[in-house]
Amino acid sequence: MPTGESSRPRSERGRTRVGGRSREDTAGLVAVAPALRVREIFRRFWPDARPYRRWIGVGLLIALLVPLVEAAEIWMFKLVVDDVLVPRDLEPLAMIALATVGIVATGGVLSFADEYLAAWVGERFVLDLRTRVYGHLQRATPESLEDRRAGDTLTRVTHDVDSVEGIVLSGVAAALSAVTRIVVFAGILVYLDWVLAVVALVAAPFLWFLAERFSRRIRRASREARRRSGGLSAVGEESLGSAALVQAYNREDAEVARFRREGEGIMSAELAAARVRALFTPVVDLIELGAALLVIGMGTWAVTEGRITVGGLLAFLTYVTQLYSPVRELGGLVTSVYSASAAAERVIEVLDMDPAVTERPDALHLGRARGGVVIDGVTFAYPGTDRRILDGASLEVAPGETVALVGGNGQGKSTIAKLLVRFHDPGSGAVRIDGVDVRDVTLEALRENVTVLLQEALIMHGSVRDNLLLGRPGATDSELMDAARETGADAFIAALPDGLDTVVGQRGRRLSGGQRQLLAITRALLRDAPILVLDEPTTGLDRSVREHLREPVRRLARERTAILITHDPVAMGWADRVVALTDGRLVEQAPVAGI
Ligand SMILES: Nc1ncnc2c1ncn2[C@@H]1O[C@H](COP(=O)(O)OP(=O)(O)O)[C@@H](O)[C@H]1O
Ligand SMILES: [Mg+2]
Repeated sequence: MPTGESSRPRSERGRTRVGGRSREDTAGLVAVAPALRVREIFRRFWPDARPYRRWIGVGLLIALLVPLVEAAEIWMFKLVVDDVLVPRDLEPLAMIALATVGIVATGGVLSFADEYLAAWVGERFVLDLRTRVYGHLQRATPESLEDRRAGDTLTRVTHDVDSVEGIVLSGVAAALSAVTRIVVFAGILVYLDWVLAVVALVAAPFLWFLAERFSRRIRRASREARRRSGGLSAVGEESLGSAALVQAYNREDAEVARFRREGEGIMSAELAAARVRALFTPVVDLIELGAALLVIGMGTWAVTEGRITVGGLLAFLTYVTQLYSPVRELGGLVTSVYSASAAAERVIEVLDMDPAVTERPDALHLGRARGGVVIDGVTFAYPGTDRRILDGASLEVAPGETVALVGGNGQGKSTIAKLLVRFHDPGSGAVRIDGVDVRDVTLEALRENVTVLLQEALIMHGSVRDNLLLGRPGATDSELMDAARETGADAFIAALPDGLDTVVGQRGRRLSGGQRQLLAITRALLRDAPILVLDEPTTGLDRSVREHLREPVRRLARERTAILITHDPVAMGWADRVVALTDGRLVEQAPVAGI
């Protein structure tokens, strides 16, 4: 007897995609927020699906055909009973068998096409959307990314994007196929015997009602579980991120206990959800059984009355069982969509993050600047704060000049560096390069002309070569080593186990602070930008290393415009001028004497 197993894959897939993923996407932090309206989700994400609309159409068409084939399969079973078994006549069997084989084969082809097409479109959609979200993140201010927990941000790019697919594509397909199945099977029921059909169908709204009630409770419970998982990854990230501190202070057990406590919270929420879910299934099964018994009773009566054949009744019962699962599924889908919409919201939040700065459509491709820098009456407060870090700061640096910039901690020296490479834009006033407002220049051109060297040398995971190549993509090894010789980095690179191929580890952990900085200086030299901003590149390093780096820094500053943020009196000594930042303004200082 066909049990309708063939009907499972599509609907189950729809469900696991949405429901299953939604449990995983808990890895991120989810604030308790009202679910996003489904229409809004479609408005935001349909553009990612649009290129595949033709294939989506084909897929939906196939999804509509699948229930028809299933119904035909069951119908063959009716024919076997009525035309072969009951009359004990073998003759029609060959025809029926042939037809059944044909139908099953067609069903196989259709379900393959359905499955594969859904995956084909779904995976492409996910790839496109993921790329779009990631691309958006690349344009966000470095600080706004650093403020976020990397784990959470990545969860949005990975699992949450999957959940969006679960709504926009798989969810729709599953809903559509459930509805088709209901319509087709209900239609056949009525065709077979409308009285029996009414009896059987009365159970359906009842099931709906139950499904709604239960799913609301499952929803609440799973939302709680998801919220608590956010806490779990937060705890994990905090303590794994500061493993050295945790171990040095014997906090391992305490951290494990904290982790376990968070885990227990998730466990109880998951258990609550599982209880509701587990209760739901047998109750519904019982109702189905009751309905089936009722139909069997009334059906037997209808058979004796001659209103329906035995085969008809058996097929009827099969159709009824086929009918309940899509009804149940629709209820489940509502729950899944609800939890997946929280994921969609998290993706939308990323897409709505303001880019740090925007490029004008008609921005200039500056070419190589001569190197004049003007800071003209700049005021600046960080987004979301009132405090004016810069308040009418002005400075003019001639091409080739070296200016030392001094000022107490937190006065805003690094902020000036950020404005020069346009990580932010000033509130009022302007930053100009060779007389051109940096806002009128393409970001690429600006950053080709201005190189910043930060206190914490920026080193990427990868080899020494990879890091140097960031300065000049495509440079040959001998060019790299020439630059290294000039800054004095050649000695330590040669001493590394694999030379240029040595992998430096996360943030260059395998190098000493001085080596990281030398690498960064060499990279800046390779970059060869006409304007250089050095933001306390040697602070925090010990004295001998600092002294060691002086010469490379000086060499780098020579021949270009350099703004040297520093506390090193020697460096102030080589500068053409010293400018102090106090209370948001830049004031010329007397040159440092005696050096
Ligand atoms: N991303 C940020 N958001 C808000 N405030 C910030 C941010 N970065 C720095 N600040 C604040 O701006 C002030 C100036 O910072 P910074 O330019 O780093 O100072 P300096 O380099 O002179 O020590 C500090 O008070 C700091 O707390
Ligand atoms: Mg600073």
